[in-house]
Amino acid sequence: MDDSPQTLIDEAAALLDAATDANSLANAKARFLGKDGLLTARLKALGSLSPEARSVQGKALNQIKQAIEAKLALRQKALEQAELDARLSQESIDVTLPGRGAGRGGLHPVTLTIERVEAIFRSIGFDVADGPEIEQDFFNFTALNTPDNHPARSMHDTFYIEGDDDTGRPLLLRTHTSPMQIRYARMHSPPIKVIAPGKTYRVDSDATHSPMFHQVEGMWIDEDVSFADLKNVYTEFLRRFFERDDIDVRFRPSYFPFTEPSAEIDMRFPDGPLAGRWLEVSGSGQVHPNVVRNIGLDPERYIGFAFGSGIERLAMLRYGVGDLRLFYDNDLRFLEQFKD
Ligand code: PHE
Repeated sequence: MDDSPQTLIDEAAALLDAATDANSLANAKARFLGKDGLLTARLKALGSLSPEARSVQGKALNQIKQAIEAKLALRQKALEQAELDARLSQESIDVTLPGRGAGRGGLHPVTLTIERVEAIFRSIGFDVADGPEIEQDFFNFTALNTPDNHPARSMHDTFYIEGDDDTGRPLLLRTHTSPMQIRYARMHSPPIKVIAPGKTYRVDSDATHSPMFHQVEGMWIDEDVSFADLKNVYTEFLRRFFERDDIDVRFRPSYFPFTEPSAEIDMRFPDGPLAGRWLEVSGSGQVHPNVVRNIGLDPERYIGFAFGSGIERLAMLRYGVGDLRLFYDNDLRFLEQFKD
């Protein structure tokens, strides 16, 4: 190796410049300034020189050391900067992305459907009422013209609650929202025009039935409310609910103890995946004279209609959902899709 100080500085500079990361830079530093480094060896050798030579040589070596250290510091800075630049360009941050935040909650599709039904019926003059889910046998059956041993009771198998109401009759989870016909009408005077949405319970479980489900009851009683009014109101409701005027509606004769005559309401879309199929959406009928009597009104004077529709059924048809159980799986990927 050439002994001149400048050669040592040049050599060190070349090696430091060639270092491309912290590791190779540390190696380059060790080669000159380390314990066994080239410069260190020369500094050690100073001891064997005469005092005059030592002072001259020492000064020179010190200058070399400072030059190499300065070069090292520069290179270190440059490498750090390069590393930072590389990271910044790789880990680019898109400040326009929405934050993770706490997530925004939303309403359940069944709740959205209930709100929609309420808004439509309110706009055509119906009150909205709420009633108990643990119901007395009297309101769920007897007052609705369904006495003990009536065969219709067996279609409404349900969950019974221990204990009884004050009259010794059993308590049960209501099997339909129809008890609200009696409860509401007893507290209001005609014209009675109400809907009552809420939870109902039956021993039923498959793709289109759940042990807990929702219904909306509707009732309009006055001196001259006819089946034609039922047809009008319900058809208007369906058209507004599904936002189209070309829905066909038919009333198919049926039986309920608390209405006479009774009908199932079926609807049909002219197009779409369900085109041409009659779909059952509601039970309905003219309120039975016995029920009008149980309300405390004179059936010779007051007459009207009632209906009871499945909320999940309406929601499934509106959103195109094939399995009712999806509503109750609590899977956010499903639930998040419903905004209105
Ligand atoms: N309560 C009946 C049911 O749950 C539906 C219904 C309501 C029928 C009102 C007629 C009148 O099946």
